[in-house]
Amino acid sequence: MLSDEIRDRFLSFFRDKNHKIVESDLLVPRDDPTLLFTGAGMNQFKDQFMGKNIVYTRAASCQKCIRTGDLENVGKTPRHHTFFEMLGNFSFGDYFKRDAIRWAWDFMTKEMNIPEERLWVSVYRDDNESYDIWINEVGVPAGRVVKMGAKDNFWPSDAPTKGPNGPCGPCSEIFYDWGPDQVRCGDPSCDPSCDCGRFVEVWNLVFTEFERKPDGGLVPLPNKNIDTGMGLERITAVMQGSYSNFGTDVFAPMIKTIKAIVGEGISREDIFLIADHVRSAVLAICDGVSPSNEKRGYVVRKLIRRAFLKSSSKEPVLYRIVPDVVEKMRKVYPELGEKREHIAAIILEEEKRFNDTLCSAMPVLDEMMEKGGKSLSGEDVFKLVDTYGLPLEIIQDKMLAVGGKDTDIDIKGFERLMDQRKEQSRKGSDISCDFIFRPDLFAKAPRPKFSAGMPLEATIEYILVSGEEVDTITPGECAEIITCPQSADLYSESGGQIGDKGFVSREGAQLEIVNVFESDGRKILQVVARQGRVEKGEKVVVEIDRERKGRTACNHTATHLLQAALRVVLGDTVKQAGSHVDDKRLRFDFTHMKKVSDRELIKVQDMVNGWISEDISVCKGEKTLEEARKEGALSFFGEKYGEVVRVVSVGDKSKELCGGTHVDNTGIIELVKITAESSVASGIRRIEAVTGEEARVWVKRYLNDFMKEKLGGRPPVTGGDDTWKKIVEVAEGKKEVDSAVVHEFDEIWKDALSSEEEKRAKEEKNKAKKAGAELLNAALRTADSLAADPVKIKDVNLVAGIIEGVDMNILRQVTGAVEKKVRSSVVLLGSRQDDKAYLMCAVTVDIGEKDIDAKELITFVSTAINGSGGGKKAFAQAGGKDPSGLEKALAMAVEYIEKRG
Ligand code: SER
Repeated sequence: MLSDEIRDRFLSFFRDKNHKIVESDLLVPRDDPTLLFTGAGMNQFKDQFMGKNIVYTRAASCQKCIRTGDLENVGKTPRHHTFFEMLGNFSFGDYFKRDAIRWAWDFMTKEMNIPEERLWVSVYRDDNESYDIWINEVGVPAGRVVKMGAKDNFWPSDAPTKGPNGPCGPCSEIFYDWGPDQVRCGDPSCDPSCDCGRFVEVWNLVFTEFERKPDGGLVPLPNKNIDTGMGLERITAVMQGSYSNFGTDVFAPMIKTIKAIVGEGISREDIFLIADHVRSAVLAICDGVSPSNEKRGYVVRKLIRRAFLKSSSKEPVLYRIVPDVVEKMRKVYPELGEKREHIAAIILEEEKRFNDTLCSAMPVLDEMMEKGGKSLSGEDVFKLVDTYGLPLEIIQDKMLAVGGKDTDIDIKGFERLMDQRKEQSRKGSDISCDFIFRPDLFAKAPRPKFSAGMPLEATIEYILVSGEEVDTITPGECAEIITCPQSADLYSESGGQIGDKGFVSREGAQLEIVNVFESDGRKILQVVARQGRVEKGEKVVVEIDRERKGRTACNHTATHLLQAALRVVLGDTVKQAGSHVDDKRLRFDFTHMKKVSDRELIKVQDMVNGWISEDISVCKGEKTLEEARKEGALSFFGEKYGEVVRVVSVGDKSKELCGGTHVDNTGIIELVKITAESSVASGIRRIEAVTGEEARVWVKRYLNDFMKEKLGGRPPVTGGDDTWKKIVEVAEGKKEVDSAVVHEFDEIWKDALSSEEEKRAKEEKNKAKKAGAELLNAALRTADSLAADPVKIKDVNLVAGIIEGVDMNILRQVTGAVEKKVRSSVVLLGSRQDDKAYLMCAVTVDIGEKDIDAKELITFVSTAINGSGGGKKAFAQAGGKDPSGLEKALAMAVEYIEKRG
């Protein structure tokens, strides 16, 4: 049974039992900065387990998960992964142990038809109720039910003694017995508590009935809940009789491609690692995490780099595996199909970058090793990491490979230098407090009621200084506080918009609010004590900087307008990929494959300034997600929304799901000036802009600098005397900066910079040419490996295969090249690109008397791709709309040749 069918049957099984099928949450957890990635199906239901927001009481899902705890084991063992899919059924105060256990057993034995005697069960040592259900109600022989401790049979593992705080409970696990012949530890009493590998845990049924409190106590939750989790990769391995998850259909296409592109030269372990890591990176990038040096981005960077190193390749290769991952999973996660090119481009870029790093840093490391022998100083390591960007792991691996165990790397010295560097950059920034936002520290803080209106009279309810709950804030100290009531009008950092700033004061004391965060219904104010001591319980007045908030609102609405105008000018493919809005400027990242030209930028800016001058009302209202989507409201990819959403519309120009602060009327923005356009990552461009007074100041300052530094008083390169006069007037403040001036300003710059742009365009063209050549080379290499292994049908050599992501032109060249290499052959190559399928067929002249006609063959097989073709007896081609039929088309060729050959 294929993995897709198992996933479908699991969800249908629980749909029939009245479970709501819930979409997988994103890999980036919402509202939970403590979690790096979503690691379990229950993450999105934490509220429901706590008895809150219960709309339905039964749910089932297939959840995308990333766990990085076992990174080192990936590839080495049959079933460690960084990315996996978790099938789960959940009850929020509805059914409990009895039904969860019975249904799990029915699914395994009746739906999946797994022989009962292959299944073992474990229960928590004190959970006699489950023990009894398994033996006396389900009928599992007592000899196959084992009792285990909290490490194995409590979830999270060992939660009673070690935490974390939050929902938890005893669990019962179902194991599959691979039998003593498959894996033998030699112990006749081997059972699921043995880790020899004979017994594999497949399904975990958690009876989530407690909340662990900060004092370690387990308190009953408002309801008794069920949370189950079964790794799709594991149950697939069981169903396909493959001891290793890597031997299942989940990984088969990837592994085939990896073997074809990196050759047989690398170990099975490394092939598995590459398959696992690339799959994780693809799914994480799809959910909005790009490789970077920060938290989640760093994990993705590390996955790509580890995989690249294992490929032993001197050029990018991993991006060529992306189509396999996408094809395998796009039916379940359609967003993968939409972002396929974007994901491949990001992986390619990261590989290139890393390859460049290796090329420049490795010789330096070699030189250092030559000089230092088996030891490397802290300064050297620091130089390699900080200046060359070489990861520490690689330095360690290389030293180990060359010098063996006696190598001596001064890690302490290196860490000291890294700390100094961090300290320097901390001092260099104007943030004086190092707040570490840890929502778990607020778990026992009060959750006061909200009150609208500003200024707000309130009491200080809770104070945290350096992670410790305290009663007093002294001058100069940084603290996080909660007031009662809390202000509903305080905006907390979210959706790219920064949090409010302001003051908490009473006579003789003042705390400056530097940021606001929200955690689990609490608004947390990050403050710096500017004057006086402030005590818990004191009455204070909370007030925000309204002007600053007004400027932020201008920038936020302008961001929506920019997105709308970009979509008009560049097309609907523009989608938000990130944004940052504060009171001074805005930044908007979006998907677009090439540089936005100056001409296009001017159009976008003029359009936005036009809308601003039309004084269009901005409406904010709540709708159901379905309604909003129907009306075409734009959402941010990488964001998952609740059932009810806030929609911000600007006339018929823009409609977006957004919880941010906006102006009431576009006229308030006054003016927009785009200040920069750049590339953030492959396929992602960034626009920066300023509005209102900031825009006017920016233009004046720019003109002044330009006059002084670049022109030395001479007129600009082009533009008549009038223009020059205007520039002088604006720079000298005699003429106000308005949208007409902004337009002219850009026109002048466009001309002045156009020679620069021509140069850049040439460079881009060369780059594209190079990329085309790279693609052709890659396709030729894949074709080479296909040509090396033709299928013999009677006397005919059939070379058939799929080359992902190439166009007709490349496919034609490759088919021609293969035809020259293999005698007496029929070459049939397919490709899928942007939801289209292509087929190309060549028949060599030395094929003899056989009645094989390329045109006839292609006409016959192209029905499988819902297409049609044409050509001659020796060479023919076809195009079709259904790439999923490519494999079938290749198989049909065998049928054709068998008949004719
Ligand atoms: N939360 C449990 C696990 O991750 C069951 O879904 O194993």
